Amino acid sequence: MPPPESFAGLLRDIVGPDHVAEDPGITERYRRDWTGRFDAPATLVVRPGSSAEVSEVVRTCRDHGVAIVAQGGNTGLVGGSVPLDGELVVSTERLSGIESVTAHAGVLTAGAGTTITEVHRGARAAGWDYGVNLASRDSATLGGTIATNAGGTRVVRYGDTRRQVVGVEFVTGAGAIVSNIGGTLRDNTGFHLPSIVAGSEGTLGLVTRAALRLVPRLEHRTTALLRFADPRDAIESAEAVRGALPAVESVELCFAEGVALVCSSFGLPTPFPVIDGGYVLVEVAGSTDLTDELAAVVASLPAVADAAVAEDPTAGARLWRYRELHTEAISTVGIPHKLDVAVPPGALSELVARVGGEITAVDPSARVWLFGHGGESALHVNITGVAPDDDRVDEAVLRLVVTLGGSISAEHGIGRAKRDWMEVAHDRSTIELFTRIKSAFDPDGIMNPAVLVPLGNHF
Ligand code: FAD
Ligand code: MLT
Ligand code: ZN
Repeated sequence: MPPPESFAGLLRDIVGPDHVAEDPGITERYRRDWTGRFDAPATLVVRPGSSAEVSEVVRTCRDHGVAIVAQGGNTGLVGGSVPLDGELVVSTERLSGIESVTAHAGVLTAGAGTTITEVHRGARAAGWDYGVNLASRDSATLGGTIATNAGGTRVVRYGDTRRQVVGVEFVTGAGAIVSNIGGTLRDNTGFHLPSIVAGSEGTLGLVTRAALRLVPRLEHRTTALLRFADPRDAIESAEAVRGALPAVESVELCFAEGVALVCSSFGLPTPFPVIDGGYVLVEVAGSTDLTDELAAVVASLPAVADAAVAEDPTAGARLWRYRELHTEAISTVGIPHKLDVAVPPGALSELVARVGGEITAVDPSARVWLFGHGGESALHVNITGVAPDDDRVDEAVLRLVVTLGGSISAEHGIGRAKRDWMEVAHDRSTIELFTRIKSAFDPDGIMNPAVLVPLGNHF
């Protein structure tokens, strides 16, 4: 359902001539996803400035049978934010800015296009903090993180994005503006719209504004990077730390190959004299100094070969680079296939031990990079050296994960990349229900129709 010839003129009448782009030089950055794996030939981009304008754009699309892809920071990693079938890109760039922060209650209300870094700044300026953090924070938007139900590095303490959203305003596929941004921290008046919209990947509606429950700003933060000679000790320690340290905010996992790649890609010194085995990054935060508590837990872990501890933000940021720069470092090797899976606690060692063999059995030239959110047994399996459209390696990983009782997406969502495996993740009745929910919000199937549960996918 690509836009007809004269369609841009109709959009200009709604948003003004400066906010519709057709020129390939301008639209290029909206066409290709962050990984470079999903690249659309051409597109038309519209940038509405209010919920009312979004509504008019959606109604016009509906009248002309034009499909829409909502786009925030375009940092999504599952190919859900780009117009591969000629959809209209509706960018939230102009729906940005913090509207209010209620300092006494800790609620921040902002436009969908506000970046997560801006949300952090707004929350901290009011004496609070925001419970979601991720390496893409400078570009990823509030709307995009709600739409993907983004996880990140603080889920172990605060939960994913869904858990932070107390109110949301969005435009349905029928063009209706639906808002439940009220003044309360609790709302139990029926279906919880923020929960339904979170993780819907732009298939139900376009988020225009949201209200977030903030978390206390904690002044004392200690970060430790630990190296284990045996990767299994790293994995088991990461899975155990959450229970041992109530003030834990992050438990991240990586391995020697990835750390070596980060060091060589960015010219960083190696964190310890030897690069080997597995690495766990643990961060605690509190209103008092928790370094001793962290040290006691580290001392109780088996076989810690090396440890570096940071007690101030600058030193902490230095340690975080070894984990957070994995994504960018892997992209220097080639266009990655990115899988973000989780297994039941206790099963991560088996997944790590088996996944590389399953992948190279399918494609011996594949290179496998593993890292992730070890505290929740969530693993990022990145594969380079495989053609972007060759899905055999993806299938091998996802089938192994399901065999181990895991989830095929722990945080990035389904998008286009994993859409064909929804049947592996869910039974027929669940998918049918998802399809019916989509129809209720988006009767003509114009909202990101090719991702998650495409309409027309009749089971
Ligand atoms: P986009 O990429 O623009 O869109 C993503 C999806 O949301 C698309 O389906 C799009 O249609 C939809 N969408 C966007 N805006 C709206 C809206 N206003 N209303 C409705 N639908 C909308 N993800 C994690 O979960 N955890 C991480 O730790 C993490 N780290 C990352 C690190 C790097 C370096 C990079 C590049 C990405 C990382 N990501 C991570 C992935 C990505 O940042 C998240 O998925 C993020 O939530 C996407 O936000 P965005 O604004 O860029 O959305
Ligand atoms: C991360 O945890 O760093 C992100 O989810 C990004 C990625 O998977 O590359
Ligand atoms: Zn992640």
